[in-house]
Amino acid sequence: MSKLNFKNKWVVVTGASSGLGKEIARYLAKYEKANLIITARRVKKLEQLKKEIEQNNNTKVEVVGVDLIEPKGVNFLFDNAIKVGPIYGIINNAGLTYYGKTEKAKIENYNQIVNLNFNAVMKLSLLFLDYFRNMGQGGLLNITSEAAFIPIPYQNVYSASKHASQSFTDALREENRKTGIVISSFAPSGIATEMITKSGLDKKISKDSIFNMKPDKAAKKAIKAFKRGKSISVPGFINKLTLFFVHIFPRKWVVRIAGFIYIPPEKK
Ligand SMILES: NC(=O)c1ccc[n+]([C@@H]2O[C@H](COP(=O)([O-])OP(=O)(O)OC[C@H]3O[C@@H](n4cnc5c(N)ncnc54)[C@H](OP(=O)(O)O)[C@@H]3O)[C@@H](O)[C@H]2O)c1
Repeated sequence: MSKLNFKNKWVVVTGASSGLGKEIARYLAKYEKANLIITARRVKKLEQLKKEIEQNNNTKVEVVGVDLIEPKGVNFLFDNAIKVGPIYGIINNAGLTYYGKTEKAKIENYNQIVNLNFNAVMKLSLLFLDYFRNMGQGGLLNITSEAAFIPIPYQNVYSASKHASQSFTDALREENRKTGIVISSFAPSGIATEMITKSGLDKKISKDSIFNMKPDKAAKKAIKAFKRGKSISVPGFINKLTLFFVHIFPRKWVVRIAGFIYIPPEKK
């Protein structure tokens, strides 16, 4: 049974200039008839997406260019979004990783990951939750990752940021159980997006590998689960099976196996 109905309602999608966020925006417009506020830093890409969506669907799209790592970024997005119209949903999708040996990483890389994957998600969640409480309805979807359940060597800060985001979302959901506001998370494993190529993860597992889900398929699964108000949705049989073993194996083994899978190629 659907707990959310996006038809003609305004939904904010962060990180909509590429990958999963772009496909979530396309899906929401095409199949859910939602109006969209799409946001990211690359405004040109957002404008192209707005044009494409408005040409193909009878929905409205507004663009907000913002860097969510900037101290005023989150408030800038919130203030501009609520000016557009009553907001019904927010999908915190924007995210960033660093893949490689920790000694080669700069602390700035890690700060950016924490600021985008956790701090911005936390602040946007709290701002919109307050707003939804006043409106008496709304839905919040935080895109986490399977790395929210598995410490991933060579992406250690990324997986820590996703653990934090997952834990925050789960606890917030429980606190708001009786409010009628939907709070959900979507925890995918690999998706064939820019994140894989930009981080260099594709040198380990190619973007086209069967282990990377197509972003349109992931987007469909994310929105279907969100509509049902699922607490945590993990797409794909292998990913569900992996999580099953993660929960029964000793943590030491789980991390050892993850380290073996993700060890950067030059070290082999
Ligand atoms: N790909 C995977 O294998 C995978 C697996 C599990 C979970 N996820 C999660 O899925 C979500 C989407 O990732 P993706 O795979 O679609 O990656 P992607 O294609 O790299 O997209 C990331 C999005 O985040 C935006 N973004 C990055 N830095 C930003 C900043 N400082 N301020 C505002 N927006 C920013 C990017 O837009 P601009 O560059 O234009 O700002 C882009 O639209 C992330 O939360 C990620 O952790 C991905």
